[in-house]
Amino acid sequence: MDKLKLIQNALGEPYYSNDSVFIYNMDCLKGLKMLKHAGIKIDATITSPPYNIGKEYEKVMPVNSFVNWLVEISNDIYDITKADGCYLLNVGYLEVPKKGRAVPITYLVWDKIKFYLNQEIIWNYGAGVAAKHYLSPRNEKILWYLKDDENYTFNLDDIRDPDVKYPNQKKKGKLRCNTLGKNPSDVWQIAKVTSGANRSSEERTSHPAQFPVDLITRMVMGFTNKGDIVLDPFMGSGTTAEVCMNNNRLSVGFEIREDYCQTIADRLESIIKAESVKAISPTLFQVV
Ligand SMILES: C[S@@+](CC[C@H](N)C(=O)[O-])C[C@H]1O[C@@H](n2cnc3c(N)ncnc32)[C@H](O)[C@@H]1O
Repeated sequence: MDKLKLIQNALGEPYYSNDSVFIYNMDCLKGLKMLKHAGIKIDATITSPPYNIGKEYEKVMPVNSFVNWLVEISNDIYDITKADGCYLLNVGYLEVPKKGRAVPITYLVWDKIKFYLNQEIIWNYGAGVAAKHYLSPRNEKILWYLKDDENYTFNLDDIRDPDVKYPNQKKKGKLRCNTLGKNPSDVWQIAKVTSGANRSSEERTSHPAQFPVDLITRMVMGFTNKGDIVLDPFMGSGTTAEVCMNNNRLSVGFEIREDYCQTIADRLESIIKAESVKAISPTLFQVV
């Protein structure tokens, strides 16, 4: 049976679906346990949970409860991940009362999660909130976790950085640098999705914490393969689903707020519509 049908058997009718994406308007903790119970396995998870900092989509909890919640979810993800699968967890900072003002969430969770930590990726963005009493934050972390440290997907050639300083430099007559570009390193400079008059990103939706498409594209291309099932338990505006849909991956996700589920559905439908218009009138889109 096709992979998404098995998921539908486990979770029931989705809020929205198309040929490659299933969205569930559901608490991910409940959804993950249903998937586990049904014996479903996924290839990869790419997600960004709430950071417990009082955004409109979260209820602030005591820090310990937040950490336990995030660890429980991560360990449920471990249980439904295939043996060669991965978990990409994007997190920022929170205040730990009497201990620290801008404490990286990675410090609180990294070794409480059952996965093997392959590497920490630093996502550096050029602009963001301007702090008054400490340095303006300009990075978040992505923990690249694996189920098996020897058996995992890493498509380096698909994510090479073509911006090479001396591309023609040779050693013993051979080009020193790969013609596809250099390893993109563990520091990724990718702009945030911005909002506001005159500076709003083109990809902006109404969701207040949207991932940039470029950030997710690098993870999807680098750490998953065509046909894989990618999970996003905290879909938000659905960036992971959009990138998967555009790159021949299947995706399934949970989002607890119905209005955000509708935002995702509208976002994906508008892409599908634009693609079908392109297919009908290709000449309209030719670059001259
Ligand atoms: C940081 S945002 C994700 C943003 C997303 N990466 C994007 O590109 O738009 C976290 C999302 O998780 C959702 N959420 C919070 N708790 C949840 C839960 N228990 N189950 C499912 N979704 C949840 C929130 O409503 C919010 O939209």
